[in-house]
Amino acid sequence: GKNYRVAGEHRYDGILYLPSCPEYVVKKVRDEKLDFRRDDVIVATYPKSGTTWMQEIIWLIMNKVDTERAKSEHVLVRVPYLESTKVESPIEKLPTMKRPLVVKTHLRADLIMRQVSKNADSGPKVVVVMRNPKDVLVSYYYFYKACKSYDFKGSFDDFFRLYESDDLVYGDPLDYCQQWMTYKDNPNVLIIHYEDLKADLKGCIKRLSVFCQRDLSNDQIENLARHVSFDSMKKNPQTNFESFIAMRPHISPFIRKGIVGDWKNHLADKQNEMIDKRCESLHRLCGLSFRFL
Ligand code: A3P
Repeated sequence: GKNYRVAGEHRYDGILYLPSCPEYVVKKVRDEKLDFRRDDVIVATYPKSGTTWMQEIIWLIMNKVDTERAKSEHVLVRVPYLESTKVESPIEKLPTMKRPLVVKTHLRADLIMRQVSKNADSGPKVVVVMRNPKDVLVSYYYFYKACKSYDFKGSFDDFFRLYESDDLVYGDPLDYCQQWMTYKDNPNVLIIHYEDLKADLKGCIKRLSVFCQRDLSNDQIENLARHVSFDSMKKNPQTNFESFIAMRPHISPFIRKGIVGDWKNHLADKQNEMIDKRCESLHRLCGLSFRFL
């Protein structure tokens, strides 16, 4: 068959990584005590689960809903990508980074939890976003096509085969969620579903602000919710990645559809059944459940 693998990808401990996330970075998170503090927040997701959305929400919660500043600096500058060495890995400069610190990561729970205590007073805190795996795969497929480092030229079926053979960057989305379920009762971990953000954004913002120990007024919640609506984030150059040279928005925009259930337009019956089966067994195993519509 055709080779749809990402140039320079490498496997470590069974997980496929981009070349921008070298082995030494993964090892560092696993083996060293990084300088995370009590108030720091880690946004942890499998790619395409609503990472950017949550980055923007948490940054605003931690920064008094300063939407003006949010509009003047890119979300990836305000909330850096922990394991990426593309610009300069935040891992190298955690001690000198400005607080409050919010970072995003796609590293596995077992790695990230090496940095997190069971004691609610010591931090860092972790906000995990989970999204139903069918919509994740569809979103990831369009991202693989639009992002130059993936440069994917295949069909959705070709992409689904990559998933089935465990050849997706950052591994299997269901394994990712299953691993986080092990830590769901840690007071420093909060799991939020993309579908919950869609159904009740303001309610989620309230829960998140309590978890982050930041009080927000009703006005601030209204303001925050407006700033992170799909339409605002799609228009906002600090969140839409339209000017990123690594992206080809004419192939597919980064802020694409933002809906629950686009999988219905892409998954064949067999693919759909395969995922349903896996979800049922995971539900029995660890109580994990998703909403697909
Ligand atoms: P779709 O491709 O299904 O539209 P990530 O940030 O983890 O890469 O996730 C990207 C996905 O989140 C995309 O999904 C994108 O459209 C969606 N998204 C980003 N901002 C959103 C928002 N404000 N509301 C709803 N969905 C959003």
